[in-house]
Amino acid sequence: MRRRALIVGNWKMNGLVETALELTESLLTGVAKREKKKLLGEVVVCPPFTALSAVNNILGGSSIKLGGQNMSAESSGAFTGEICGIMLRNVGCRYVILGHSERRRHFGETDLDVGRKVAAAFRDGLNPIICVGEDMAQREAGSALDAVDAQIQALAPFLPEKTTKQNQMVIAYEPVWAIGSGQTPTPQQISEMHVFIRDRLDKYMGADETRKVRILYGGSLKPENAAAIFSVDNVDGGLVGGSSLSPQDFLAIIDAYPTSD
Ligand code: PGA
Repeated sequence: MRRRALIVGNWKMNGLVETALELTESLLTGVAKREKKKLLGEVVVCPPFTALSAVNNILGGSSIKLGGQNMSAESSGAFTGEICGIMLRNVGCRYVILGHSERRRHFGETDLDVGRKVAAAFRDGLNPIICVGEDMAQREAGSALDAVDAQIQALAPFLPEKTTKQNQMVIAYEPVWAIGSGQTPTPQQISEMHVFIRDRLDKYMGADETRKVRILYGGSLKPENAAAIFSVDNVDGGLVGGSSLSPQDFLAIIDAYPTSD
């Protein structure tokens, strides 16, 4: 089944409010032109927390949606420095990236933490974009599939029994070694992993519930490699880091998605 493409820009810890607004303005212009030609899937931008409100104000009713880069599993209270899902909703977010490998590596997030955040995102009315992926040692040891299976299995208790439009989740396959490195897996490796992830989701949630789950590829996506990666079966879009900070590059990646749907 063909799913609606989703291209997500993860701006990470980059940009003040002014630069976030400039980038958003350029994307709004570029996306509006493409909509006229009906070239578009769904586009989401995930600025730093400090720019969410300002970006939301200029996105208005446009087709570009807003997402956070992380959230707390708690819903309010004495958690200094944290942001909860309701707060993200309050500034216009529909999506939230969870379990990014940088969160796992630099902030010690475990599979259990990620699972609790995923459940909290559903509770708070956000669509989680859940990142999974192996590191280089696991890839070299031939255990990439096992590593990703363990991450998905750990999520299973936190997934809803019935999926609705409101609690759709997205999976982003991001090999840790491909993030920011300029290296990417081969199309065969991406294909193998995406088929495997869908199979695991079916196993843990049931095929009916996971049919609509989009599985994105992320890790050194660039205008030069996007068309080849997007043409791999079962790749429903991309999670873009570095290249999402350049409107030209991000729009070129959007353009690289096949348009037959
Ligand atoms: P990258 O990052 O595109 O800069 O490799 C992707 C990500 O971390 O989501």
